[in-house]
Amino acid sequence: MQILRTKKTTADDFQESGLRRCLSAMDLTLLGIGAIIGTGIFVLTGIAAATQAGPAVIISFVIAGFACAFAALSYAELASSVGGCGSAYGYSYAAFGELAAWIIGWDLILEYGLSVAAVANGWSGYFNNALTAIGLPLPDYLTRAPELGGIINLPAAGIVMVLMILLIIGVKESARLNSIMVFIKVMTIAVFVSVAMFNINPANWHPFMPFGWFDHTTDGKPIGIFAAASIVFFAYVGFDAVSTATEEARNPKKDVPIGIVAALVFCTLIYIVVAGLLTAVVPYTELNVSSPVAHALQLLGLNWASALVATGVITGLTTVMLVLYYALTRIIFAMSRDGLLSPWFSTVNPKTQTPVRVIILCGFLIASVAGFVPLSELAELVNIGTLFAFVLVCVGVIILRITEPDMHRPFKAPANPVLPTLGALCCGALMVFLPATTWYRFTIWLGIGLIVYFLYSVRHSKLAKTEEAQTNEV
Ligand code: ALA
Repeated sequence: MQILRTKKTTADDFQESGLRRCLSAMDLTLLGIGAIIGTGIFVLTGIAAATQAGPAVIISFVIAGFACAFAALSYAELASSVGGCGSAYGYSYAAFGELAAWIIGWDLILEYGLSVAAVANGWSGYFNNALTAIGLPLPDYLTRAPELGGIINLPAAGIVMVLMILLIIGVKESARLNSIMVFIKVMTIAVFVSVAMFNINPANWHPFMPFGWFDHTTDGKPIGIFAAASIVFFAYVGFDAVSTATEEARNPKKDVPIGIVAALVFCTLIYIVVAGLLTAVVPYTELNVSSPVAHALQLLGLNWASALVATGVITGLTTVMLVLYYALTRIIFAMSRDGLLSPWFSTVNPKTQTPVRVIILCGFLIASVAGFVPLSELAELVNIGTLFAFVLVCVGVIILRITEPDMHRPFKAPANPVLPTLGALCCGALMVFLPATTWYRFTIWLGIGLIVYFLYSVRHSKLAKTEEAQTNEV
């Protein structure tokens, strides 16, 4: 029965945890934008347009955006009423019970950990481009994983180490730096938009849907607008990270929903504009490169704009890693505090008021993955994990409305159960469009998680111990 035990949602979830409450609604929105706009728009848009959707990638963004919007409203409801810094993990604990919570927590560790490593690889590519441009290129053996003929991807591992130090220093400091970097990122996009607007060639939008809605290539790779939607979904990954900052928000019940929804709306609009312009200024066939936005500007002969945009992207990708890394440490912190992971992970350093141990451990692990593993198919794995979490959050809203009808909900997802059901269906459908190999890998990761749960967590769960003590008293 223990695996089905749910954690009661009380005002305690908003109590003090030792973490410092210092983030405003604005900080949270910027945190969201920091996590959202990154590799998805700066790299994957071009690749998806060139290989899967053509200019219709813009429709893929709209489809993925709708799925995220439904999920975001569900997230906002649970973030405002369930609380806790564990995000979907905490909500599942309340709605479905311990085993489901463990699975989703384990899933989020995959999502956030691999996202940071994947973005670090993209960062490394842009960074090395910049070094090459000033005549100081790094040798190949220091920028490639062993499998690709190198020794280590040093810039990728190095940037993760730098972020680790930043997160140890403190969350307010990180949020402040994040705000500056988000500003630079938005400015970069503004430069691209203002330059691209004057270079539109309507012929580039013909044909608009060269790959149709959904199909497979001869070697079995999914293509079409829906397949592209399941890839560019990566561009939206990260808005959920705002909900992991609940325990550090000044007014979590109000500000966390605002942060989630505001960040998502802002980013969706930007994506539609950038995807539309990118495919309108150059033929989509030219975009299958690692830096499509800068590359498109180069093709237009605008080298100054290309260099400016590339520099902004380096900054932009840094904020993505920072926020996702932050979110990862807070999920592990929450799972450890509940006894599902060793208490070693939830010690807060009294001086910095941050969970230093978990930050360091994650830093070294992510740096190793980023430095030694080539991460070409990572986005798909990150996406399947995230979509799975979104499905559970949407279903969680419906279940909690039934099991805990009187719970105080400062923010309510509108049109329940229609909207959360649509969210679960859309996210589930996007999962179906992902390749079979991604499903295998995801299943293996969850399998390992189940082994850890039954070997360790089930015996150390605080919820189980509390309930046992209560039963003994009676
Ligand atoms: N949404 C983030 C990105 O696109 C993960 O890089």
